[in-house]
Amino acid sequence: MCGIVGYVGKRKALPVLVDGLKRLEYRGYDSAGISLVQKSEIKTWRAVGRVSELEKKLDLAEAGNVGIAHTRWATHGAPSEKNAHPHLDCGKNISLVHNGIIENYTELKKILIKKGHKFSSDTDTEVVAHLIEEIAKKKSFLMAFREAVKILEGTYGLAVITNKEPEKLYCARKGSPLILGVGRDEFIVASDASAIINHTKKIVYMEDGEIAEITPDSFNIFNGKNNHKEDKKIFEINLSDEQVKKQGFPHFMLKEIHQQPEAVRNALLGRVEKFTKDGGTSVLGGLRDVENRLKKIRRMVIVACGTSYYAGLTGKYLLEEFADLPTEVESASEFRYRKNTIDRHTAVLAISQSGETADTLEAVREAKLKGALTLGIVNTVGSTIARETDAGIYCHAGPEIGVASTKAFSSQLSVLVLLALMLGRERKLSFSESKAIAKEMEKIPEKIEQILENKNAIKKLAKKYARCTDWLYLGRKYSFPIALEGALKIKEISYVHAEGYAAGEMKHGPIALIDEKFPSFFVAPSDSVYEKTMSGMQEVKARKGKIVAIATVGNKKIKELADDVLHIPESLEALSPFLSATVAHLFAYYVGTERGYDVDRPRNLAKSVTVE
Ligand code: F6R
Repeated sequence: MCGIVGYVGKRKALPVLVDGLKRLEYRGYDSAGISLVQKSEIKTWRAVGRVSELEKKLDLAEAGNVGIAHTRWATHGAPSEKNAHPHLDCGKNISLVHNGIIENYTELKKILIKKGHKFSSDTDTEVVAHLIEEIAKKKSFLMAFREAVKILEGTYGLAVITNKEPEKLYCARKGSPLILGVGRDEFIVASDASAIINHTKKIVYMEDGEIAEITPDSFNIFNGKNNHKEDKKIFEINLSDEQVKKQGFPHFMLKEIHQQPEAVRNALLGRVEKFTKDGGTSVLGGLRDVENRLKKIRRMVIVACGTSYYAGLTGKYLLEEFADLPTEVESASEFRYRKNTIDRHTAVLAISQSGETADTLEAVREAKLKGALTLGIVNTVGSTIARETDAGIYCHAGPEIGVASTKAFSSQLSVLVLLALMLGRERKLSFSESKAIAKEMEKIPEKIEQILENKNAIKKLAKKYARCTDWLYLGRKYSFPIALEGALKIKEISYVHAEGYAAGEMKHGPIALIDEKFPSFFVAPSDSVYEKTMSGMQEVKARKGKIVAIATVGNKKIKELADDVLHIPESLEALSPFLSATVAHLFAYYVGTERGYDVDRPRNLAKSVTVE
């Protein structure tokens, strides 16, 4: 999704801004732009397409120590040069970049047009520049900025410069993340840390409603309630530049699939020790503060989107099986806008890699309002969801750069297993059952490694099926969410039509699609529903449908039905999703690359979806 970088300091701003934009490319975007303050004027460049297109128009030696830059993911107005940010006012004295959506922009635009303002884009963002211009006719820039953002409805992360105050950068945040990197004689503002970490590890998180006024020597952050200056804490972030590079892999996605064993190990680190002592439970320090409330909950509602939602579906099976806890999973985008019956005996668990997904964040806010205990399983440390939930568990998967989520999924599953064990031990789960699951859990990274060692078999098969344009992904029980995840992944990066279904549902409709040109991908480990899954496979075979199957190693019989089989190591039924997901991720990756697509930056997609 859109990315923001801003610089104010003693160095030339342009190289820092361009580098920052490149580091934000993974978020997904369709155009980019930069503005610099140069003496008494603002100079702006914009380009459609990649940052490299913008770079062609720039001379990196260009003077200017204050500037803003943006990668845009179109919401209002087509991807075009005129709609790319930054946007300026009529007098070309104010330039700004914006993440989020201004919901009342149509009304504001009408009013501003009546007052004589001329607009040059179709965006919602441009109204903000004109609005500040209008108010600044009678007030100082800071006052005008403050007043303008109060009028805005919707969400925004804003970075603004003006040639009237050429040494300053202004920012404001509501519902869209903005952080401030504190360097020596310089500050870098960005929508995420990857644009900052090569300059400084010292970070200040802006909160909703806050406004920042930044010069090369100092920064002031004011709250939105009474404009008082806030005493902001400077955090040290633990994210290395190396972590956000490809490290020899052709794509981030492949690197991140290979990091799944490490992601699982990191999620377990220090959290399963107690299994070797009395108690046989997991230790989730992030939940300590809400221990007593958690003991009283009678119901869990998981809210999430996309891949995180599918992790949540797996979580439902885990929590109900091991913790006897009634659990529902709901798309975060649906949760907020319908009447729901949550109360203080309900825990609402948000799952999010980025911790910034607008739908999930709003669901958390709604749940809080209703008095529910809110919990988070979040990967990005310090993100908004991590900060706004009552308590949570970090995934510790490290930064995920590839737009399609892979290793975050494995780490979310790991945390869900730990949560199910912890809650299970407080309820009915026996010590020996719990210990057996934990022991097997510790073997999962090695088993994923075995799959990775065998990736060439998956690559070969992907090549064979790369030209297929439709797929049905099918699985039962623990394999059902994996069927959904596998279908989502192949859609996202291969632009192939795929539908994920509960295998038992196939006969209720999708079976009509099956013929010799419409293949099915069965997730069929040897588990308690294996025989039932086989019935579905028979039905496909009877209609001449091609079948690719994930099966447990040693299952040779499946070849009687499946045309091609990808094996996973043996494991517990509840933990098989880790293994099948790795196969499904690799399969999608190889189909995508075989079809010649840039799998790290799939068209139309954004890494962090910060609009509702
Ligand atoms: C799929 C994918 C998306 C995200 C979804 C939620 O590969 O990446 O479906 O899973 O946008 O994002 P987070 O987990 O950041 O809330």
